[in-house]
Amino acid sequence: MFRVKDDTIWGQIRILFLASALLFLANIYFGFYNALSWVYDLLYRGRAPWDMDGPRPELVEMVKNGQLKPCRAIDLGCGTGEDVIYLAQRGFEAVGVDLSSRAIAQARDKAREAGVSPTFIAGDVTRLLQVEGPFDLALDYVCLGCVIGTPARERYAQTLSRLTRPGAIYILLNLATDPDRRFNLVPNALQPGEVDNLFGEDFVLNITTMSTKLGL
Ligand SMILES: C[S@@+](CC[C@H](N)C(=O)[O-])C[C@H]1O[C@@H](n2cnc3c(N)ncnc32)[C@H](O)[C@@H]1O
Repeated sequence: MFRVKDDTIWGQIRILFLASALLFLANIYFGFYNALSWVYDLLYRGRAPWDMDGPRPELVEMVKNGQLKPCRAIDLGCGTGEDVIYLAQRGFEAVGVDLSSRAIAQARDKAREAGVSPTFIAGDVTRLLQVEGPFDLALDYVCLGCVIGTPARERYAQTLSRLTRPGAIYILLNLATDPDRRFNLVPNALQPGEVDNLFGEDFVLNITTMSTKLGL
């Protein structure tokens, strides 16, 4: 599902090394979250490795087969907004949030071109005080896995709990490690059991494992 231009181990090490070095330097200058948004902004200057030209096929499938019906939906870490735009085109009242203001600007441009007007917000999903719920559907395509550290992930879970109504659907796509690879450079991926611990009693989790490869 995800495409990477250089799928070799050296290509991956190079991306990881570059991203870590940039994060380290930006952290010194701007503080952690500003640094992180700066790094994502930089990645969105070109084509980010995970960026797709359309919505996630799994989401399209769920809308087509009626599992997801028009409702209030929020996409956490929406990137350049393909899924939010797709939902808006199908009658959902969709909101997309991303740390990268560059990604959000691109998402707004894409939405304008597509003739829809979902809401896009540049913000940190671990805080999001500027967003009002309740939502019936929350999507997360590889954002929680990018949130660094347990306290921030716990804040994310609290935010999600605040923003969703009882019975809401939450779709989480995690970074997958690939058992066929000799090296798996996914230092930040959610660990087995971590999702249950994070969401605790606030959520009834129905976990389906989807196979996906980020190439990292
Ligand atoms: C792997 S990308 C996935 C983007 C998009 N969901 C997609 O499928 O194309 C992760 C996204 O999460 C965003 N992100 C990471 N940490 C975030 C945070 N704390 N708050 C909001 N967005 C965040 C990044 O800017 C990036 O766009």
